[in-house]
Amino acid sequence: MIVFFDRAVLSFFNPMKKASLKEFLDFLNQQDAKTFKTDVVDKYLKNHQIDHEEFLPYTFFREETYGRNLIAKNDFYELLVLTWLPEQRTAIHDHASQRCWVMMGLGSLTFKNYEPVGPIIEGKKYQLKAMGRAEVISAGQSPSYIDDGMALHSIANASRKPAISIHLYANPVNRCRIYNESTKTFEWSELEYFTFSGNTWNEPVQELH
Ligand SMILES: [Fe+2]
Repeated sequence: MIVFFDRAVLSFFNPMKKASLKEFLDFLNQQDAKTFKTDVVDKYLKNHQIDHEEFLPYTFFREETYGRNLIAKNDFYELLVLTWLPEQRTAIHDHASQRCWVMMGLGSLTFKNYEPVGPIIEGKKYQLKAMGRAEVISAGQSPSYIDDGMALHSIANASRKPAISIHLYANPVNRCRIYNESTKTFEWSELEYFTFSGNTWNEPVQELH
């Protein structure tokens, strides 16, 4: 038996609406510190699909380290494209008490979570405990979310292919704490952009990790 579905029936089964990057930015620009603390972003990401080609004008790979490419920023959020060549990775880091959503645009990344340590004290040594196994998230999977109450984490491209991820931070994270595995202490790391709104700097900004 052949069954034909009309568009209304199909949209019932697939409730994701297509959204352009401009529509996503319009939505983000309507939010403030209060609304970013609610579930508005989770709901938006659950119901909207943004064509990943929209992020290509902001996608620049770096040889020396993973690339942080800024798409848009105001007082309440920043949206970035992060680019990952094989073997590029972050240190274990916190998110400076902010909220972070990650969507995979291309390839896959390995996320490893560590138990939160509460307020970090300068000079104190920490023995971090892994939370479960490392998780590989690939393009096409649901967005992931993290904040300091949930975990610390590291991200690595453990695959043999380049990867692209889209990161939303609310509020913007200008610096975060990274874990020095040899001294077992945390250090502040100032976060820089490799490109800003699709324009490359004349000279790449040196990142600290
Ligand atoms: Fe992170």
